[in-house]
Amino acid sequence: MDIFEIEGPVQLAGTIEVAGSKNSALPIMAAMILPGGVCKIPNAPYLADIQSFGMLLESMGARVARDPDAALQIDSGPLNNPVGEYDIVRKIRAGICILGPLLARFGKARVSMPGGCAIGDRPVDIHLRGLRALGAQIHLEEGYIVAQAPPGGLVGAQIFLGGPFGTTVLGTDNVMMAAALARGTTIIESAACEPEVADLANCLNAMGAKIRGIGSPRLVIEGVSRLNPVCYRVIGDRIEAGTFMAAAAITKSSLEIRNCPINEMLAVVDRFRQIGIRVEESAGGCRVGYAGTLKPADITTQPYPGFPTDLQAQFMALLALAEGNSVITEKIFPDRFMHVAELNRMAAHLRKEGPSVIVEGVDRLIAAPVMASDLRASAALVLAGMAAHGTTTVQRVYHIDRGYEKIEEKLNAVGARIRRIAV
Ligand code: EPU
Repeated sequence: MDIFEIEGPVQLAGTIEVAGSKNSALPIMAAMILPGGVCKIPNAPYLADIQSFGMLLESMGARVARDPDAALQIDSGPLNNPVGEYDIVRKIRAGICILGPLLARFGKARVSMPGGCAIGDRPVDIHLRGLRALGAQIHLEEGYIVAQAPPGGLVGAQIFLGGPFGTTVLGTDNVMMAAALARGTTIIESAACEPEVADLANCLNAMGAKIRGIGSPRLVIEGVSRLNPVCYRVIGDRIEAGTFMAAAAITKSSLEIRNCPINEMLAVVDRFRQIGIRVEESAGGCRVGYAGTLKPADITTQPYPGFPTDLQAQFMALLALAEGNSVITEKIFPDRFMHVAELNRMAAHLRKEGPSVIVEGVDRLIAAPVMASDLRASAALVLAGMAAHGTTTVQRVYHIDRGYEKIEEKLNAVGARIRRIAV
């Protein structure tokens, strides 16, 4: 298990490149089950989660490889065993989104029920409700979701995907992928509007699907009888981009961020500006600069286009150094606060009150040994470590490798001092 040793405080300068979006690439890998042929994602990021998802597809019979030009190639032609085994799905929660495509292509699927994770319970009831509306019979058997399409295949329907926390990203993906090959028209109301859902819809349309309303809460999907293999480039990763923007802000530096999908980050840019960070669009990305002081800001996470939960922890690290008090409220995953105690070990003043954290800004953070608990919480600790005085050690770096491609190399190239040590 690797650890990071991070020296701080550092100043960053230069240009940093954002990779293809993890949360686009994973459901798009699932969508590549549908055409039963050779598909490619030329800019799939090199991440542990992508590798695990590839193993999941391979365990069902698909062939997954990287081309010499680094494109991820998925041949779902030989995929013949529509079973998502517990040992793999428990490692990669996005594994649940094979359910819709398997059901559409094979008329049946058996997929391990994903367990909880460090950010909360993460139920899948809305996914199942949506697939049942398309006519699937679904029951649970020994920890597995066992799904069967009606004779003649799934049938289009009007489906409401709202839930107590808004809607569901992977649930929308699952139902949309199943509906793409269903008979008749499906209307999904209260669909997730996240750019990654729109990316999947665009990929499905490139395969020959007929999806309208992309990016809106009302998706209209006219089922088609078959889909074709595609080569599809995913959008830039807005969460990695936001993390790099926060890296510039917390180290009081300026960075040029390339391949930054700034137009899909309006809520994030708005908060950066309120905090006093300059953000300007540039050719192919944006420039982020520290402008004098870090001001406090209140943040509430919401479904897109609101502020993303996946940047909540990183902004908490940043606001820990603001001149005043901020309130951060988590409305998507109310328990996603494992980083609070770790940041407090670095002399932050954070107080959790229900689904909110009161952040009392301090003058400086002080390096400490800390423990990564989940992907975004670990990113927050890396940010804090670059700003803190002394050497911070972050344990359980494998969490960060799930979602950030060579983060220490990218940040070191612009001035960070992060050492990966195998222990
Ligand atoms: N929910 C239900 N029932 C369901 C599904 C979801 O109650 O059937 C609840 C969840 O418990 C949560 C809320 O609805 O409170 C939203 O969850 P959602 O289903 O939208 O999350 P997800 O699709 O499982 C994706 C991302 C997450 C990101 C969330 C929210 C991927 C692979 N994962 O998860 O990304 O936080 O949407 O935007 O796309 C990450 O990258 O670090 C990450 C966790």
